[in-house]
Amino acid sequence: MHYALLRPLLFALDPERAHALTLDALARTHALGLSSLVAAPAAGRRIVAMGLDFPNGVGLAAGMDKNGACIDALAALGFGFIEIGTTTPRPQPGNPQPRMFRLPEARALINRLGFNNGGVDALVRNVERSRFRRDGGVLGINIGKNFDTPIERAADDYLICLRKVYAHASYVTVNISSPNTANLRDLQSSDALGGLLAAVMSERATLAAQHARTVPIAVKIAPDLSREQVASIATLLVEHRVDAVIATNTTIARDGVAGLRHATETGGLSGAPLLAKSTEVVRWLSESLAGAMPIIGVGGIASGADAKSKIAAGAALVQFYTGMVYRGPELVGECVRALATD
Ligand SMILES: Cc1cc2nc3c(=O)[nH]c(=O)nc-3n(C[C@H](O)[C@H](O)[C@H](O)COP(=O)(O)O)c2cc1C
Repeated sequence: MHYALLRPLLFALDPERAHALTLDALARTHALGLSSLVAAPAAGRRIVAMGLDFPNGVGLAAGMDKNGACIDALAALGFGFIEIGTTTPRPQPGNPQPRMFRLPEARALINRLGFNNGGVDALVRNVERSRFRRDGGVLGINIGKNFDTPIERAADDYLICLRKVYAHASYVTVNISSPNTANLRDLQSSDALGGLLAAVMSERATLAAQHARTVPIAVKIAPDLSREQVASIATLLVEHRVDAVIATNTTIARDGVAGLRHATETGGLSGAPLLAKSTEVVRWLSESLAGAMPIIGVGGIASGADAKSKIAAGAALVQFYTGMVYRGPELVGECVRALATD
C-alpha cells in the first residue's frame, strides 16, 4: 500500500488520533499475517555494536511505541532494532491535550506529551508477549522518571525501571534529554550526570551478576548543548564505562520553523529542521569519544542520504521517528539499502 495515498487521510485527523489508529492498523495487519502488504524488508548490512548483533543499522526511535504494545508489527517493517519507551515506574497520563502538532511545511513535529505511558509493569508484560525478543531481535528499552518524582530522587526511578526491564532488554537507554519533564535535562550537567551514572552502572553490575548477562546501557542526550557541554558529557560517559550514546532527542530551539503554524507551541521539535543540529552533536561526540563507544544518530532523518550523513559524522547506527510520519514505512527500506552501500 502506498503511504502517499494514506497520508492525507491521516493528516486530516488530530496527530495523536492518527498515531493511535496507525499503530492499531499495523498491529491488526500483522496479526492477520499481512505485514508484507505494508513493507518488504530489505537486505541490510549487519553491524556489531555494544556487543549486540544488529541485522541492519536502522532503528525505530523511542516514543512511537511507548508501552511496547506494537513491537512485532513495527519490527516487521524491516527495522534492525526497535526502541520502546520512555517508560516510568508508575503509569502517568502525560500533559493535557492537545500536545502533539504537525508542521507539514517543515516536515516537522512539536510534541509535549510528557512521558504518557502505562508504567513499566505494563511494558514488561507487553514485551513478554512479543515474539521479536524471543526470536533474538534487538530491543532497546528507554527509561525515565515520573513527572512527580523530585529531580533529586530521579536516580531512584531510573533504578526501579532498570531492575524491572533488565531481563527483557537487549540494551537499556537512560533518557535524560526529554524537554517535556520539568528539570529532566538538568541531569546532563556534570555533577548530576556523574551521580546518576555511578548509580546506574553500579546497579547494572549487580544485575549482570544476578542474571549472568551484561545488558548494555545507552545514554540519550539533547541537541541543545554547546560543544563544551557535549565534550564533558563524553568524558563522563567514558569514565563510567557507558556502552553507547544516543544523539539526539528533540530540540527546544525553533530554527527553521519561525512563522509556521504551531511553531510557537511549547515542546520538543523533531524532523527535518533538527537534522543538521543533531548531526553536529554526533560529530562533536565522535571527536570527543574517538571510538570509545558507539554513537546512535537520531534527529531529522527523512531519506537514505540523511541516514548516511549520520554515519559519515561518526554514528554506528541510526534511528528515526518523525520521518515515519512524513514518509511512511518505505523510509525503513530506503535507509537500510542506503547503509548497505558505500
Ligand atoms: C511524538 C514524539 C514522542 C517522543 N517520545 C520520546 C520518548 O518517550 N523518549 C525519547 O527518548 N524520545 C522521544 N522522542 C524523541 C525521538 O525518539 C527522537 O529522538 C527525536 O524525535 C528526533 O528524531 P526524529 O527527527 O527522527 O523524530 C519522541 C519524539 C516524538 C516526535
